[in-house]
Amino acid sequence: MAARLIDTIVIRRMKSTDLADVFAIESTSYDFPWSEKILKDCILQNYDCYVAEGLKIVGYVIANITSQESHVLNLTIHSDYRGFGLGSSFIDLVVNECKLKKSHSIFLESRVSNTIARKLYQKYGFRSIGIRKNYYRNSTGREDAVVYRKNIEY
Ligand SMILES: CC(C)(COP(=O)(O)OP(=O)(O)OC[C@H]1O[C@@H](n2cnc3c(N)ncnc32)[C@H](O)[C@@H]1OP(=O)(O)O)[C@@H](O)C(=O)NCCC(=O)NCCS
Repeated sequence: MAARLIDTIVIRRMKSTDLADVFAIESTSYDFPWSEKILKDCILQNYDCYVAEGLKIVGYVIANITSQESHVLNLTIHSDYRGFGLGSSFIDLVVNECKLKKSHSIFLESRVSNTIARKLYQKYGFRSIGIRKNYYRNSTGREDAVVYRKNIEY
């Protein structure tokens, strides 16, 4: 059934009325989630915010896409909908938007321990360019971030 439901999912711009649903996914996906205010500020700042929606919202991406460098700030899929290609669809969308805006590269960070996200980024040609020491909080203290960059090819 999930495989059929997944076919009905569309990606569209995030609206402020989506915030409660987005925050529900955020707060169940991370030990240290963004607050609803931070998510709202991303919309108010005109960041590039998109949701994946079927019968309900099942994931989102928040990016800042510019004509110079672009940044993926948050990419989260509801736990029931992971592994169906939605994270990949969001990366494809960000890359396409970057091409439209003539961005030259995309940066993002991932926890060192987040092997699934790191596999996704590496599959999409993101290359590790450094480590931010103690960048994230975790249950035992702090954790390093891996910084990734992908150059946009034209
Ligand atoms: C990371 C995340 C966004 C991936 O989204 P997704 O929709 O599940 O990913 P996809 O189905 O598009 O998978 C794309 C690739 O990711 C990697 N991947 C996805 N699930 C994986 C798993 N369970 N184990 C290993 N690699 C996995 C694989 O490289 C996969 O490519 P493949 O199918 O050819 O093997 C999702 O797992 C998520 O929301 N996790 C919690 C929040 C989070 O960690 N966000 C990233 C913060 S940096």
